[in-house]
Amino acid sequence: MKLVLLGAPGAGKGTQAEVLSEKLGIPVISTGNMLRAAIAEGTEQGKTAEVYIKQGGLVPDDVVVEILKERLSHFDCKNGFILDGFPRSLSQAEVLDKMGVAIDRVISLEVPDEEIAKRLSGRRVCLLCGATYHIEYNPPKQDGLCNNDNQPLIIRDDDKPETFMKRLEVYHELTEPLKEYYLDKGILRIVVGQEEVSDTSREVLKALEG
Ligand code: AP5
Repeated sequence: MKLVLLGAPGAGKGTQAEVLSEKLGIPVISTGNMLRAAIAEGTEQGKTAEVYIKQGGLVPDDVVVEILKERLSHFDCKNGFILDGFPRSLSQAEVLDKMGVAIDRVISLEVPDEEIAKRLSGRRVCLLCGATYHIEYNPPKQDGLCNNDNQPLIIRDDDKPETFMKRLEVYHELTEPLKEYYLDKGILRIVVGQEEVSDTSREVLKALEG
């Protein structure tokens, strides 16, 4: 199964990707997490990415595509993968097509913009493993610590209201048109994000069957 998760910032792509990865036994490929790792490592790609991420814009295609191609070449991708955060524009969807990556399903997670603001303001993440929590909706077992590796959880820089509004704008302008692109290919499924993470997961799994 080669799966793409589409959705606005904070729609729950990362959260659902983790659930699906466990259920389907395929890795999550999150371009956002890979870019944040590159920033933390201080690589040239990371230095370029940081400028764009801080402003809430998209990182240039050449940087993201290079990181993605390298990750897709790993052995654990041979039985499929879940793309979280790629493609994010028509030009990136065309890159996947040119690479000969045949996507089986595209799930668009739909959540109203007002709800997204609540989700992002309470989000906490683990920089080591990329796990995502919410202080109210999806808290870690131990306050402030990751369930997987006990690392301290942090608030992402780009979750500040001014940056987040820009990210939402970029989503509507550049990423949302992808729904039509994949609708035309007959592989798009819309899933309305529910209040409970587990309810959304059930809907996503249903959408994968149909
Ligand atoms: P990225 O890290 O991909 O961020 P994003 O797409 O903006 O998405 P988020 O990670 O903010 O949200 P999510 O949908 O994963 O939601 P989550 O599950 O965390 O990208 C960051 C930046 O990197 C971009 O802005 C861009 O600059 C750059 N970038 C990345 N990919 C790129 C690309 N391909 N090209 C160019 N640039 C790129 O959930 C959010 C919160 O809600 C959490 O707290 C969670 O616990 C909670 N929650 C989740 N589900 C529910 C639920 N059902 N009910 C209640 N709460 C819930």
